[in-house]
Amino acid sequence: MGTFYVTTPIYYVNDAPHIGHAYTTTAADVVARFHRQLGDDVFFLTGTDEHGNKVEQAALERGITPREHADQMVGKFKEVARKVDATNDFFIRTTDPEHEAFVQRFVERCRESGDIFQGAYSGLYCSACEAYYTEENLVDGLCPDHGIKPTFMEEKNYFFRLSAYQEKLAALYRANPDFVRPRHRYNEALSFIEQGLDDISISRATLKWGIPVPWDESQVIYVWVDALINYLSALHYAPGDDLVRRFWPATYHMMAQDILKFHGIIWPALLLSAGYDLPEHLFIHGYLKLGGEKMSKTRGNVMDPFPLIEEYGPDPFRFYCFREVNFGQDGMVGDDSFKARYNSELANDLGNLLSRSVSMIGKYRAGLVPIPADRAPDVSPLAAGAVAVVATVRTHLEEMDLSGALDSIWELVRRLNRYVEEQAPWKLAKAGEDGALDATLYDLAEGLRLLSVLLHPYMPGTSARMRERLGLGADEAAFAWSEAQWGLMPAGSSVVQGDPLFPRIESE
Ligand code: MSP
Repeated sequence: MGTFYVTTPIYYVNDAPHIGHAYTTTAADVVARFHRQLGDDVFFLTGTDEHGNKVEQAALERGITPREHADQMVGKFKEVARKVDATNDFFIRTTDPEHEAFVQRFVERCRESGDIFQGAYSGLYCSACEAYYTEENLVDGLCPDHGIKPTFMEEKNYFFRLSAYQEKLAALYRANPDFVRPRHRYNEALSFIEQGLDDISISRATLKWGIPVPWDESQVIYVWVDALINYLSALHYAPGDDLVRRFWPATYHMMAQDILKFHGIIWPALLLSAGYDLPEHLFIHGYLKLGGEKMSKTRGNVMDPFPLIEEYGPDPFRFYCFREVNFGQDGMVGDDSFKARYNSELANDLGNLLSRSVSMIGKYRAGLVPIPADRAPDVSPLAAGAVAVVATVRTHLEEMDLSGALDSIWELVRRLNRYVEEQAPWKLAKAGEDGALDATLYDLAEGLRLLSVLLHPYMPGTSARMRERLGLGADEAAFAWSEAQWGLMPAGSSVVQGDPLFPRIESE
């Protein structure tokens, strides 16, 4: 048992959430649930990034104040977390007064360390990134990430001496090759550090919508500095005992590659400057793409996950996210591939397996899971394979390979389906081979019970429904990782017949 603190980025409220936000939140939820299964003390944080140019602009366009805009938008982001069935322990808003006060104290600490100085800045600014670019970093004069033209900005700002942390950061990376995962993202961040770090502007003179610089209220703190600090500020005021001591440093910050530099370079430097421990790992997943491009609100090519969740519930969406796109890599998503996967893997592979098994136990054994009379429950042709799957799933999940773990789980689903065909219980029943029939039906029930434990992080509702159909309880203890062993299915459990778990989607 250990502690586990996982975060998602806090999302900009300039526009409505899309599938990309739901994706990171779901990924963090899968690992949070898995660590709770292991018995770890878990804290899972998500929230919204509400200050800055981009949010101010969005409000301006709507003719309302940034605060009104943020207050209206935050509900949609909270709803994402609810709709994907995320178990976040807290939802932070950067407009929370406690966060604002903490950010001011934090930058004061950096100033006391001698890392803040006044200077002038001029450069090209992409308001979608909330970051400056140099000419050579642009693609055809446009922001490489958002495809929009940056604007020229010139200001007197406060600067953070990022350059002073170059050596420390490089040493930190070399000593901790798992600081950023996967490895190619680590290499990217390290090579960026090795190219040399410039000092960064950490305040804005022209912007009003932000947290005032404590020693100069004519300026506001740069939105990225304000935002990064959320991971630490939340622990100071979220409900719960002693959260800072229990959960800092964070175990994993999860995000896509768009914001790796902020988290891999600026964030650790700020923490070093203010005298805090550094997070243990960043996990960088890929982009979900639609029509070959990264989805983004700025580009206007976004997929809305809500209709799919509305229609099929959160679990098929959660499953699809990690099954369709190899977690850690970019991948295409869309309604058609969602429906294809739903039908072939959820309706056919898993749903049918449960329906068939429960219905055969109903038909041949009056609905009671039999005791295999001729052998101990753990002596099953499936046992060794299942135990190997459990071990692999655990290793993959510990290493954030959410797709690898799901692949292994699906091996077990397919093994159980093959077992039904190999054993052909209907033939055993006809031939009066009671011992073999009992053993087969027990194995199917046990395989499904084990799957309910393994699937819990991915499809919590489905996993509870599977257990109900097997006549088992679905309280938290039922999903403990210690339940992921072969042979724990109680004989005599009374199965429940019912509708298919995943009714097929008929094509229009
Ligand atoms: N507000 C900043 C983050 C501050 S964290 C201290 C921000 N917000 S954002 O709304 O733009 O969210 C970016 C994050 O949303 C990505 O890093 C990723 O987690 C998620 N995604 C947004 N679009 C995505 C895809 N198309 N695909 C995968 N993840 C996506 O940046």
